[in-house]
Amino acid sequence: MPLKKRNNYYFVDAADEVKRVSINSRRYLGNKYKLNDFIKSIIDKECGDFKVFADLFAGTGAVASVFQDKQLILNDILYSNYVSYDCWFGNEEYSDAKLMDFIYQYNNFLPVEENYFSKHYSDTYFNKKNCRKIGFIREDIERNYNQHNINQRERNILITSLLYAMDKISNTCGHYDSYRRNGNLEKELILGIPVINQTKPVNKIYNEDATELAARIVADVVYLDPPYNSRQYCDAYHLLENVACWKKPEVFGCARKMDRSLLKSEYCTVNAADTFKRLIKNINSRYIVLSYNNMAKKGVTRSNAKMSDNDILRILKTQGEVEIFTQDYKVFSTGKSETRDNTERLFVCRCK
Ligand SMILES: C[S@@+](CC[C@H](N)C(=O)[O-])C[C@H]1O[C@@H](n2cnc3c(N)ncnc32)[C@H](O)[C@@H]1O
Repeated sequence: MPLKKRNNYYFVDAADEVKRVSINSRRYLGNKYKLNDFIKSIIDKECGDFKVFADLFAGTGAVASVFQDKQLILNDILYSNYVSYDCWFGNEEYSDAKLMDFIYQYNNFLPVEENYFSKHYSDTYFNKKNCRKIGFIREDIERNYNQHNINQRERNILITSLLYAMDKISNTCGHYDSYRRNGNLEKELILGIPVINQTKPVNKIYNEDATELAARIVADVVYLDPPYNSRQYCDAYHLLENVACWKKPEVFGCARKMDRSLLKSEYCTVNAADTFKRLIKNINSRYIVLSYNNMAKKGVTRSNAKMSDNDILRILKTQGEVEIFTQDYKVFSTGKSETRDNTERLFVCRCK
């Protein structure tokens, strides 16, 4: 299909528009997009020239995205994030024209039949029409993948496009712990084409527990951005995870969550410091860079950090000298616990 590009839009057959989406056009708790300049400037200055950058709690992949001149290692416990890493940083070739064709057709199709997604989620986070569309699109992506019409990278690019489109219109304040009663369900689901800035096709992506993975990789700089409070990411993003995995599990409760027992993070529990100690011991790297904010005892209990500064310093110092860099930053919290003097800290450990 011939493509034309003008400003921020591609045109299919010069007639209809397909919007572009970038890696940072999604909402994600603890996303470091706005701190990227700070993080990059410290790493550039402190770690000098290096080849391999590992982001073991990569979330959206925002931090890794500013190190695309390096070989990247990305990892997250959520499969929905892993799928996105393959989209933004994967190594396999993909066809822009083919993807554009799929996205154009998805945007213009109106399914009338019920499916897994519409059955369980209609008129909650999305209206019935959008739910039918989401379920149809996800099923169609898998069917085309299984029939070898699209390769794995193309599958993951299409899933990422769907997840980003869902995030744009969901009837929530950005996460899926609950949906708004009487919220606006009328927004239309529109998929965009991900803008992929591929530079080095040698990246590695994983969907594992960071503590275990750390023992099997070698990098020059290992960046760590674990959850710092008791909010589990699998609770906040269960719905996107469900769509990405597409195993159609039973869902329950008002929020329609599936069983997430295998996705719970130790970093959100009282075991955080012990788990962090094992992680640090496993790391084989010249530098360890940790993001951890100063919410130790500032917000409501759920927002309080799970590791104290004493714990962090004691553990990091087993690997080498540690220096702390700070930047004031407005806390992510949407509610009562918001504190304005929040400081984002970067702990840089020069390993022995
Ligand atoms: C603070 S967020 C990272 C945000 C990321 N730096 C960004 O800019 O988008 C923490 C991430 O750690 C992931 N996570 C939690 N426990 C994990 C574990 N044990 N292993 C790997 N990832 C984990 C969560 O799913 C979440 O995406």
